[in-house]
Amino acid sequence: MAIQHVMVIGAGQMGSGIAQVCAMRGMRVTLQDIAPEFVERGFSRIEESLVRIVKKGGLSESASRDTLASITLTTTLDAVASADFVIEAAVEKMDIKKSLFMQLDGLAKPDAILATNTSSLPITEIAAVTSRPERVIGMHFMNPVPVMQLVEIIRGLQTSEKTYRAVADLAQALGKTPVEVHDYPGFISNRILLPMINEAIYCLYEGVADRDAIDTVMKLGMNHPMGPLQLADFIGLDTCLSIMEILHDGLGDSKYRPCPLLRKYVAAGWLGKKSGRGFYDYR
Ligand code: CAA
Repeated sequence: MAIQHVMVIGAGQMGSGIAQVCAMRGMRVTLQDIAPEFVERGFSRIEESLVRIVKKGGLSESASRDTLASITLTTTLDAVASADFVIEAAVEKMDIKKSLFMQLDGLAKPDAILATNTSSLPITEIAAVTSRPERVIGMHFMNPVPVMQLVEIIRGLQTSEKTYRAVADLAQALGKTPVEVHDYPGFISNRILLPMINEAIYCLYEGVADRDAIDTVMKLGMNHPMGPLQLADFIGLDTCLSIMEILHDGLGDSKYRPCPLLRKYVAAGWLGKKSGRGFYDYR
């Protein structure tokens, strides 16, 4: 199936990045969020990212203008009806995702694929609220979407081979590398990444070393581009906590227990870069 029109639900960091990479590859994109200021902020993020890409020679000025021109902003779901592919990147709350997928299922063309960019919620459970579970799939991009090579493609229990193939082909058409994963808590990326981040927080909590020492060990010792505490701030400490809780609940092993210091920071509203304060101070 040729994917010409992509509908992206949610214009935050991830949704705007997904809209951008689809538009850069010549697709028509509709970017939706619930309020005009959210879609406008998402569009500004795309403009800023394109400026960086043009500056380093990754795209011409005219291709950048064409990219922006192929993105339509909206606060309604009307355009779902003409989309070949719908990807949801709204908030990570199961009840919101289920209610959205019920609506999308009712509005989308019968053969349209409904994907979710969830970082850890079960695809099988989201698919089960639709009449087309074979055409529901996880397509998990990494942040920042225009830069990161990986797309985790998560098969729900009922996802069909045809849907998997179409989404893997789409990831490749976007210049990304798809990796096939089955639907278990945290998939692969967050099942491995988040316990490492949580352990780094335990090292800080137990006084094994200070923040900078922990991040330096992982940056210089393991060649990670960011230390785990800086990366936690970048992901969002509330998101880190919610993923640890999903791993803990879903896998039932105490090795996934969230660090009390992570809980304390989230309770204080220290959510990382987005709130101005996390393990680092951004104010
Ligand atoms: N759009 C376009 N280009 C961008 C960009 C954006 N939004 N952000 C960064 N870049 C480009 C820069 O222009 C720069 O390009 P050149 O090297 O060609 O000049 C390059 O990326 C590096 O950027 P910077 O020099 O500004 O900064 P940096 O070297 O510190 O890199 C980073 C920034 C790419 C974010 C790097 O620190 C990194 O890779 N960090 C780790 C990111 C990571 O682990 N992401 C996964 C998070 S987990 C997740 O997403 C899943 C989940 O479910 C929680």
